[in-house]
Amino acid sequence: AEETLILVKPDGVARGLTGEILRRIEAKGYTIADLRMVRADRELLAAHYAEHEGKPFYEPLIEFMSSGPVVAVRAQGERVIEGFRSLAGTTDPTTAAPGTIRGDLGRDWGLNVQQNLVHGSDSTLSAERELGLWFA
Ligand code: GTP
Ligand code: MG
Repeated sequence: AEETLILVKPDGVARGLTGEILRRIEAKGYTIADLRMVRADRELLAAHYAEHEGKPFYEPLIEFMSSGPVVAVRAQGERVIEGFRSLAGTTDPTTAAPGTIRGDLGRDWGLNVQQNLVHGSDSTLSAERELGLWFA
């Protein structure tokens, strides 16, 4: 079946939402095929977010993502890439639809939209690349 990389970002881990997020992934019927807690270093994050290098939110994003442990998940299922992005909701937690992880649980802290609890790969190519980085 298709695979994707899901990250519970540092805000999700710090707020004790890992269980709730994993519950939603499993409740949807996806399989958690692998899982690890990672304290990501700059090198890993720079590789993961290479597409955003040079954007104004890049540095704060890397800072934030290295501020605490993240939970990396290898999830499997029919159309799981698209399906998880739908479960996660849109990037900005304030306007993400209710019923989604970001819409129900994400908060705008007034600074930025980067503390949006989760990451999910956005294509089969990204999924392959990102799984290789986080589950090397
Ligand atoms: P991911 O699943 O984390 O990749 O989220 P996404 O695909 O919805 O967003 P995108 O890949 O465009 O950006 C990656 C991450 O950078 C987002 O999840 C946010 O944490 C952050 N980000 C994206 N756009 C902005 C922005 O305009 N401002 C700020 N502060 N952060 C942003
Ligand atoms: Mg993205």
